[in-house]
Amino acid sequence: MNVVIIGAQWGDEGKGKIVDYLARDAGIVVRFSGGANAGHTIVLSGTKYALHLVPSGILYSDKIVILGSGMVIDPEALFAELDGLKAKGIDWEGRVLISDRAHLVLPRYKDVDREMESNRKKPIGTTGRGIGVAYAFKASRDGIRIADIDDEDRLQNLGEEDKAFIAKWRGKLKPMATDLAAYISRHRNSWTLFEGAQGALLDIDTGTYPFVSSGMSCAAGAAAQGGIGPRRIDRILGVFKAYTTRVGNGPFPTEFKDDSPGSLSNYIRTTGNEYGVTTGRPRRCGYLDLVALRYACMVNSIDRLVLTHLDVYDALPEFEACVAYRIDGKVVEDFPASIRDLERAVPVLKKFDGWKTPISACQSWEELPTKAREYVEFIETFTETPISIVSVGSDRQQTIVRESPWTRF
Ligand code: GDP
Ligand code: IMO
Ligand code: MG
Repeated sequence: MNVVIIGAQWGDEGKGKIVDYLARDAGIVVRFSGGANAGHTIVLSGTKYALHLVPSGILYSDKIVILGSGMVIDPEALFAELDGLKAKGIDWEGRVLISDRAHLVLPRYKDVDREMESNRKKPIGTTGRGIGVAYAFKASRDGIRIADIDDEDRLQNLGEEDKAFIAKWRGKLKPMATDLAAYISRHRNSWTLFEGAQGALLDIDTGTYPFVSSGMSCAAGAAAQGGIGPRRIDRILGVFKAYTTRVGNGPFPTEFKDDSPGSLSNYIRTTGNEYGVTTGRPRRCGYLDLVALRYACMVNSIDRLVLTHLDVYDALPEFEACVAYRIDGKVVEDFPASIRDLERAVPVLKKFDGWKTPISACQSWEELPTKAREYVEFIETFTETPISIVSVGSDRQQTIVRESPWTRF
């Protein structure tokens, strides 16, 4: 069975936690896109693991994890991450494979990324990891794939520094290089998770362009870049938070305007620990945007939603969620492409009563307070998508499963 997990907002929805949780029953985890711009957190019995390039199945000693064809990989960052895991007692040798179609991020790409940002009148707020540059080289057919690192013809256009960098990492990369499609096909009886990075609204095609990342973070990316065809996907899960965050620039209709000490924005950032895993930047916060979430469900054929961070609302007497936009006085129910429209959009908000009780110890749907369940059910009705998992804390254990994604329906 093949299950795809993507972010349904602007990233950082808790994909890492959910992939780790579901990986218990999987044999293989394939991360299909993005690079070291991602930061996926797993908390296991109080120990925190921050993953950037390594797929979130790595903590189980019997899982194979694969860096997929849509990834852009900085070997220096990858091996530093693997060294860090080793230091924490995670044996990874022999279990981490890399698609031979994945592209390399060369050191100079990071300099170009930063320089392009500094020349933009309206910067995107990139992570500075050379991601957009690597995807641009890929699209212009000047990128270097893992399969090319031995190919003199492919390397001949590179400068000496690039060649020396590739030579430095060649010996470590080569034994991990794998023909992903052939591997997945040979293991078609394994249960496989396809882990997305970023989120639907940061996807190069479906996101809030140009304030997006440069890879495919949509569900279709799993097919194009995960080594399977679209018909082989059995289930698509979209992970989203009880509220919305965004790190970097770009439109964000429900963003809280007041970010002063004591504001709701500040409360959510502190309670939800809303700081970037990769850059440490404070994340922008706002209410749940249901217009954007419904759009993400639609363009990704999301079968089931996974709601995270519901516990962050525990202490609030009431809160709101956006059910439409008002743009120039007109009610808009579809997610606009125009950045100008999104910037002018005023959210139409619906109020909800809070549950005012801690939920992080709840282990079943029935244990959740009625007001919390009412919020979940409203989202299901609005998006016409069932919520099959509710996360009530960062730890692996703090997860309520209403329906396993591994069951066929
Ligand atoms: P990802 O990029 O989608 O994997 O998400 P990140 O790891 O960047 O950010 C999610 C953050 O929220 C991490 O610090 C997680 O440990 C934490 N987290 C995940 N799920 C929950 C949850 O249900 N409740 C709370 N309070 N924190 C969570
Ligand atoms: P995960 O997988 C949140 C954002 C950056 C910036 C824009 C472009 O942890 O959810 P880039 O360096 O990719 O060219 O930056 O995309 N961004 C993310 N935001 N979570 C991520 O990944 C992100 N990856 C990139 O902040 O606004
Ligand atoms: Mg993240």
